[in-house]
Amino acid sequence: MPLEQWLPQQEKIALKNLLRNIAPPGTAPGAVIASPSKENPNYWFHWVRDAALVMDLVVDQYALSSSADQKAYYLNLLWNYADFSRMNQLTPNPSGGPGEPKFHVDGSAFVGPWGRPQNDGPALRAITLIRFAKALIQNSKAEESRRLSNTIKYDLEYVSHHWKHPSFDLWEEIHGMHFYTLIVQYQSMVEGAEYLDLLGDTGASEWYRKQAQSLETELNKHWESPKGYIVSTRNRVGGIDYKGSNLDASVILGVLHASTFKTFSVEDSRVAATLLKAKQTFKSLYAINQSGPKGIAIGRYPEDKYDGYSSAGDGNPWILITNGFAEFHFRLAQRLEKRGRLTIDRWNQPFFRDLGMDLPLGVIQKGESRFSAVLQALMTEGDEYLTRVKYHIDSDGQMAEQMNRWSGYLQGARDLTWSYASFLTALEARSKTP
Ligand code: NOJ
Ligand code: NOJ
Repeated sequence: MPLEQWLPQQEKIALKNLLRNIAPPGTAPGAVIASPSKENPNYWFHWVRDAALVMDLVVDQYALSSSADQKAYYLNLLWNYADFSRMNQLTPNPSGGPGEPKFHVDGSAFVGPWGRPQNDGPALRAITLIRFAKALIQNSKAEESRRLSNTIKYDLEYVSHHWKHPSFDLWEEIHGMHFYTLIVQYQSMVEGAEYLDLLGDTGASEWYRKQAQSLETELNKHWESPKGYIVSTRNRVGGIDYKGSNLDASVILGVLHASTFKTFSVEDSRVAATLLKAKQTFKSLYAINQSGPKGIAIGRYPEDKYDGYSSAGDGNPWILITNGFAEFHFRLAQRLEKRGRLTIDRWNQPFFRDLGMDLPLGVIQKGESRFSAVLQALMTEGDEYLTRVKYHIDSDGQMAEQMNRWSGYLQGARDLTWSYASFLTALEARSKTP
């Protein structure tokens, strides 16, 4: 089936399967299960990170839907999520704060050993709830939206006072300072400041803007020009010690999840250099990338040993990351079209060359044929990644966490909610390309 025909069909399946994982039978209202898989692996939990990224998509659905019934349906899901989140914040847990990574599906604390805290969680949750609050305001529900302010401010206060402390990364493995965590914390401070201005709390917004500035300085330290890419972790204090390359696709996910950042945006040539390095690395690392469609299946980081069941195996490419790489190219095409110009420098020149565009250093303007060729090349590349995912997933549209690096078969948690969300956000970006 041609991609154009498959995408709208898969879009419906992805949305349906995503919604099925929000408060399924046996869970509390507002809980978002990471996957229906209850053993090997057990993902039957509410992860704060996964839930925030998934509910962000539900905010979009709420804002976009035109039927009153649908709006009411999404609104109900969002309020339940907000209430469940508040309960998570107030439930005593082993992290001793909002950095606790996951909860049981009834909202009680998970007290087993785990990599904690994970401080991207409260930042992502704040971002999603702020967008929910803004959507309410746009739908003439400003009064109701105030009920979110305590929950939002609780997370923002935590981020603003704790971002200098090491925490576990989004892959729950390394204790240290991570680009992904820092960039979503940055985003939460910027969006949080705007939100608190709306509430008239200018003391807080000033403080958050100051944190955002310092976070930007910290983020810049992750660019290592001798290596030619943005490194994932600095100041490691614990957790796994075998990520020698410090090259991690989560840098690209961070750029996507912190969508309004001016530096480290999709246009930043340091990000392009990092993406290319990851692509080349995974291209040669995984057997499945040696055949099949042109698009490259992308994993977390080259040294990864987590195979979806245990950490004694071979890491594999992930669906949500491959979708994320697609989304990156769509978003870049869209941004360049808006900006009307592209500056080629020594860091992004190889990225464009890899797309088949041999461009000299300097500026390319909208109107030049090279400019539209660049946009075209980006959109084609985005589609290649989606074609790769299409090639490996089952005919019923089920999206698991991983694709086996040798055979391409799906593995790890089935019906991963975040996989569906990543597909839907990639399509949303694709629909906005020129
Ligand atoms: C499960 C985590 O969710 C995964 O990200 C990690 O790689 C393994 N545990 C090993 O720590
Ligand atoms: C393992 C992933 O590494 C982590 O990012 C995610 O939150 C959990 N699985 C749940 O999906």
